[in-house]
Amino acid sequence: MNPTNRKITEAANFIRERIIGQPLIGMITGTGLGNLTDVMEIAKRIPYEQIPHFPKSTVESHAGILVSGSMAEKSILAMQGRFHIYEGYTANEITFPIRVMARLGVKYLFVVSAAGGLNPLFKPGEVMLVTDHINLTGDNPLIGKNIDELGPRFPDMTSAYDKDLTVLSKEKAREEKIILNQGIYVGITGPSLETPAETRFLRSIGGDAVGMSTVNEVIAAVHCGLKVLVIVALTNSNLPDCMTPTSMEDVILNAKKASSSLTKLLPAIIKDLEK
Ligand code: HPA
Repeated sequence: MNPTNRKITEAANFIRERIIGQPLIGMITGTGLGNLTDVMEIAKRIPYEQIPHFPKSTVESHAGILVSGSMAEKSILAMQGRFHIYEGYTANEITFPIRVMARLGVKYLFVVSAAGGLNPLFKPGEVMLVTDHINLTGDNPLIGKNIDELGPRFPDMTSAYDKDLTVLSKEKAREEKIILNQGIYVGITGPSLETPAETRFLRSIGGDAVGMSTVNEVIAAVHCGLKVLVIVALTNSNLPDCMTPTSMEDVILNAKKASSSLTKLLPAIIKDLEK
C-alpha cells in the first residue's frame, strides 16, 4: 500500500473509533473563526496531536482540535484550526486531514477562512462566497505519485465550487438578510501581506479576495470527490491606491464580525443539505 494511503487509513481508523456515527460534512475553520463550532452540538473533541500522522498546528489563533458533532441535525467533523504553507508545510501535508475526512465518508467539505478584499465594493466584516480560485501558492497537493484510491491523476477543476451549494447559499443568505458577496479567491503563501504592486496585480488578474489558505484544500477535496463550499470572512480591504497597514488585531476583529453572519448562514445551508 502507498505509505500516504496507509497513514490516511490509520488516522481515519483512530478517529472512527472515537466519534459517533457517520459524518456527512467536513468543515475547516480559520483565523478568528474557530467559534463557528459554538453553533454545533459537540459530542467529542480530539486534539490534533493525538491523531496519528496529523500535522501540528503552530498558529496561535488556530486551536488544533478536531470537533465531532452536529449542526442543524446533520453530522459534522470540524477542524478547529488548519495548516498553512507559511508554517513550513507542503500543500500535500496541509491537505492530509481532508483526505482523512474523505476516508471517513464525508460527502461535503465546507471551508471558512479569512481573506483580504481586493474588490473595492466589498467591506471588511462582510463575507464572500468563493465561486472560483487562482492558485498562486506555487504548490499543489497532488504533486507526486497519484494515489489512485483517492482520485484521478488529472482531476477536472471546471466545477470545483459546487453549483448546487452556491445556489443554496445565495438563497439562504437572502432569507437570513446577510450580504453575501461572491467572487474569485487568490491563494498565496504569505506570511507577508501584499505590497501595493502585488495587490494591483492580484486585482488585475481577476481576484476579488486574497488569502493564505484554501486553494490547496479545495484541490485535494475535488480530487477525492467531495462537494466543496467556501465562504471567506473579509477581514481587511486590500486596495492598492488607498492601502493602510493591516494589523492582526483588525483581521481578528473583522473575522469575529463576519463570523456572526456565518453562524446564521451555515446552519441555514446545512439544514437544507441533501444527505
Ligand atoms: N492578504 C493575504 N491574506 C490575508 C489577508 C490579506 O490581505 N487578510 C487575511 N488574510
